[in-house]
Amino acid sequence: MSLITTNQEKCFILELPKFRVDFDIKTIDLNKPDDVWNGVRNYKIDLPELSSISYDYREPPQAWLTHKLPEYYIKPHIDTDRDAVLIIPIDPKHYDIHFLSDISNEESIIYTHQYRCPTMPHAKVPHFINDMNVERFFIQVSFYFKDFNWERLHENFALHYRR
Ligand SMILES: [Fe+2]
Repeated sequence: MSLITTNQEKCFILELPKFRVDFDIKTIDLNKPDDVWNGVRNYKIDLPELSSISYDYREPPQAWLTHKLPEYYIKPHIDTDRDAVLIIPIDPKHYDIHFLSDISNEESIIYTHQYRCPTMPHAKVPHFINDMNVERFFIQVSFYFKDFNWERLHENFALHYRR
C-alpha cells in the first residue's frame, strides 16, 4: 500500500483489528427490535469489551446489533448526535462504504473502503452503503466523546487497538 493511500485512508477510516467481541447473535430475539428506522432494525446489546476502552465520554457508549433489511439501502447521510461509530461486520464480513464530497450526489465518491475488521468510519463525512437487496447484520457502537476530534481519536486508538 502506498504512502498516499495510507494517508488518505487516515482521513476516513480507523481500523481496530485487535478489538474482539464475544457476541452470539442467537441470543437476540429478532422479532423485538428496540428501534426501527428506514429498514434498519436495532437491538440494544451489552458489550462488556467496551470497558477496555478508556476515554473521556460525555455519555456512555451504546452498543446495538443492527439488522439491515434487503429492501432498503443506507442512503447518503452524516451521523448526527453521536460523535463516532464503531462498526463490527457480522454478515457479510466484507462490504464497501463510500464517502462523498456532496451528500446529494452519489457519484461524488471521494473514498471507498471495504470493511474487513472492526472499523470506525469518519461518520461526519457524508457516506453511504450501496446495499440494496443485501441483508446485513452488524454491531454498531455509538460514541459520545468529550471534546471530539477525529485526528486525536485516530492517534489515541491507534496506540491501543491497531496492529
Ligand atoms: Fe452513518
